[in-house]
Amino acid sequence: LLLTHAYNRRVIEVRPPTRAELGPVSKLAAQLVRMHHAIDPKRFMQIEPIEPGYERFLAHEMEGGAVVLAAFVDGAVAGYAYGRVEPRDWNALREECGALHDIYVDERFRRGGVARAILAEFLARIGSDRVVLMSAWSNVEAQAFFESMGFRKTMVEMTRG
Ligand SMILES: CC(C)(COP(=O)(O)OP(=O)(O)OC[C@H]1O[C@@H](n2cnc3c(N)ncnc32)[C@H](O)[C@@H]1OP(=O)(O)O)[C@@H](O)C(=O)NCCC(=O)NCCS
Repeated sequence: LLLTHAYNRRVIEVRPPTRAELGPVSKLAAQLVRMHHAIDPKRFMQIEPIEPGYERFLAHEMEGGAVVLAAFVDGAVAGYAYGRVEPRDWNALREECGALHDIYVDERFRRGGVARAILAEFLARIGSDRVVLMSAWSNVEAQAFFESMGFRKTMVEMTRG
């Protein structure tokens, strides 16, 4: 399945990345890790270098059935998402559902509908009507984006130390 959308009259292509394309995808994944570490270095770990391990991790996850999607604009990787179906979790009181773990759009491509295109394709592929995600408390921009896509706020994580 291939999704195309208009972005400033350019085409956004959303599809699973090839193994070779996981290189540029992992660069964006590393930015997502560094962004969280900058928000709260005590809570969000950052173990450099991030890219090589993330690339191997995503390849392994794809082999295991996870949904990994990349958005391409003019042949460049503009953003990506990663998630998978998670089983029933009694601690979280959460039935089996889709979990969106990562979504990130390169700063140069933001506010052009790239994340909307990626998330729409993710929701079509994940195979579950319920999808849960976590967002850093202060990341109000991402929360506005998720709310625009039909997500509601359901949990608050608190950290001491
Ligand atoms: C959140 C993020 C993925 C949005 O990507 P994007 O491609 O710019 O989003 P889109 O252009 O598809 O936005 C779709 C809608 O979401 C909302 N939205 C997106 N960014 C927003 C922002 N900064 N402030 C308020 N609303 C926003 C708007 O309703 C927007 O529609 P509009 O542009 O027509 O008003 C991007 O800002 C990002 O990568 N942030 C850093 C990583 C991150 O926070 N990831 C999520 C946490 S895991």
